[in-house]
Amino acid sequence: MTDTLTPVLSEHWDDPECFSLASYRRTGGYRALAKALRMPPDDVIGAVKGSGLRGRGGAGFPTGMKWSFIPQGDGKPHYLVVNADESEPGTCKDIPLMMANPHVLIEGMIIASYAIRGERAFIYVRGEVLHVIRRLYHAVAEAREAGYLGSNILGSGFDLEIVVHAGAGAYICGEETGLLESLEGRRGQPRLKPPFPAIEGLYACPTVVNNVETIASVPSILANGPDWFSGMGTEKSKGFGLFSVSGHVRTPGQFEAPLGITMRELLDLCGGMRAGHRLKFWTPGGSSTPIFTEQHLDIPLDYESVGAAGSMLGTRALEMFDETTCVVRAALRWTEFYEHESCGKCTPCREGTYWLRQILDDLERGVGSEDDLGKLLDINDNMVGRVFCALGDTAGSPVVSTLKYFRDEYLEHQKRGGCPFDPAAAMLFAQSSGEARA
Ligand SMILES: Cc1cc2nc3c(=O)[nH]c(=O)nc-3n(C[C@H](O)[C@H](O)[C@H](O)COP(=O)(O)O)c2cc1C
Ligand code: SF4
Repeated sequence: MTDTLTPVLSEHWDDPECFSLASYRRTGGYRALAKALRMPPDDVIGAVKGSGLRGRGGAGFPTGMKWSFIPQGDGKPHYLVVNADESEPGTCKDIPLMMANPHVLIEGMIIASYAIRGERAFIYVRGEVLHVIRRLYHAVAEAREAGYLGSNILGSGFDLEIVVHAGAGAYICGEETGLLESLEGRRGQPRLKPPFPAIEGLYACPTVVNNVETIASVPSILANGPDWFSGMGTEKSKGFGLFSVSGHVRTPGQFEAPLGITMRELLDLCGGMRAGHRLKFWTPGGSSTPIFTEQHLDIPLDYESVGAAGSMLGTRALEMFDETTCVVRAALRWTEFYEHESCGKCTPCREGTYWLRQILDDLERGVGSEDDLGKLLDINDNMVGRVFCALGDTAGSPVVSTLKYFRDEYLEHQKRGGCPFDPAAAMLFAQSSGEARA
């Protein structure tokens, strides 16, 4: 059984000064660091392994295991790179987290760098969020001033500097090797793997790349112990996470809860769908994860259960759509995004996303044909497993999954020679007729 909400990262977000060092220290901040620095680095890795923490950036790779891949005694510098690129449509947890509490990320970064014996760490943050970049600069300066960064941190003999690096706004720079290319000053295009970053990452040195939320979860694990963390969640998906609910719900927002909470529970916390409307479809983990419908509301939101039901937990970006939404139009909009963001390195992705978008555009305007539905699936088959990175593998997910559940709606567009929906009715702030009368 899971408790409904478990605010840890978001616990003090209602404090008007929650982002300041003074506020963070008042609420126990940087105590986990002092504890970690008294432990041998391998014991810190052991604690993170024992907690069962898995990467919160989408793939869910075990974090402690990733850290343990960094070769020790190799004489090379080791780096930690925090992935703060957050660009997947619907994903909106890392940016509020850094805005509200940059110090929990910095504390986690110092602990992680100590564990992997790194001496320099980077935050790669998307360039459009200037307010967050400024906040990070300020927080790093505060931490340095207080002796948490620089040489001989808290008298431990451990040295660390943190560099905040602003990207130029490309979704592909969130893919970890595209990110490393960009950080080195080149065009952000994914690298062929292996070698994986743990062996040859930034500047060809051993590197850990972790998501913001992953690293921000580390101080509480060190402070409270691995059993505290693994006591939450489900058998293989431990701990808590931020669930970001957006779209046609009454009160969208961030809900910090144990993994395994259901969408039905979250929907209750949001006050349900907007007045007078009912759920049509939703994404469990952002636009690249296959859509779900009402029949999936009781699936535990953990990696295994969501995977077994045919989708992915991804970044827990729960985008909710009601019956006013044209599913073909939604798939088209997402595909336009993937076409635009494909880096162009592999032909199946560069060409495939272009063709998917072109055919969807015809279908949505009612000028396609039933044969086009088969073509969409064929193009997707020619992308999956034939590309360098997960953008190309998953760009067709919205198309394939909407066809699976709403094939008739695609055909209805052709029968009518146009879209049967009124796009204005699907606007988030459109009033239902019932509300307008009230
Ligand atoms: C196209 C694409 C974009 C991605 N964007 C992000 C991102 O913005 N943030 C992130 O943490 N991971 C992103 N990832 C996943 C990263 O490649 C990587 O798995 C992650 O940063 C590892 O961190 P974690 O183990 O803490 O989850 C993206 C992957 C792909 C293929
Ligand atoms: S799959 Fe697409 S985004 Fe990924 S490397 Fe290939 S072309 Fe670039």
